[in-house]
Amino acid sequence: MTPSLPTVAAAIRAAMLTADPRDKVMATRSVARDWAAGQLAFAFDVTMPDVPARPAQPELLPPSQMPKRGRGGSERGRLALIHALCHIEFVAIDLALDAAGRFGAERGRDFVSDWLGVAADEAMHFALLARRLRTLGSHYGAMPAHDGLWDAARETAHDVAARLAVVPMVLEARGLDVTPQTIARFQAADDHTTARILQRIVDDEVRHVRFGTSHFAKVCAERGKQAPQLWKTLVTQHFRGSVKPPFNDSARRSAGLSCEMMAALA
Ligand SMILES: [Fe+2]
Ligand SMILES: [Fe+2]
Repeated sequence: MTPSLPTVAAAIRAAMLTADPRDKVMATRSVARDWAAGQLAFAFDVTMPDVPARPAQPELLPPSQMPKRGRGGSERGRLALIHALCHIEFVAIDLALDAAGRFGAERGRDFVSDWLGVAADEAMHFALLARRLRTLGSHYGAMPAHDGLWDAARETAHDVAARLAVVPMVLEARGLDVTPQTIARFQAADDHTTARILQRIVDDEVRHVRFGTSHFAKVCAERGKQAPQLWKTLVTQHFRGSVKPPFNDSARRSAGLSCEMMAALA
């Protein structure tokens, strides 16, 4: 390691502790860019924060207190849906940064590269949806948002296998199942711009889930465990929700969630 370079852990921690959304996007992009350019030392001299910094808006509410978005085709309902997705991408930035900064020391450079690449993707997804909200006369922070998306990070902070089993392989994989219907909903409302943004997001998410499944497989091999069985055990221990169909089988398969893996959870 070159002692004069800033460390990757310090750069990641600083991005996680940046509250302002625009600044967090810029900080995340520069961590990913500097890492790829060899400008950050592979060194983990600081720990990751338990909770990342959050802007004053949106107000975070427990899921039970979130206003109902409604299933209908109203413009307000669609705006609230874009806001909810924008918030998910905002939290996803920190989830990817945290994976790289928390588990990078034990998992190595490729792991750091993959999750910093994911963090940069999430920053782009957030920026696209935040810009869409502004074009539609709203903005990120204009509505309350779901407070609970960090629970999975807290619950799996002790073990990289648990983190991968739950965050990319359950939560992000769920996005592969539901996003095609969301895209159809925007297309039906003639909002093709939002539909295109969501299509780009889902294409990237297939890769994120694939990073999850492939790093999980490596951890399983090192621990002498079968991936389907360990996945089931960790999901049962650390994920409160249920993993249930309908599944987007083709997207899941291209993300490495084979029939054998899915059968383990059934
Ligand atoms: Fe995303
Ligand atoms: Fe993602």
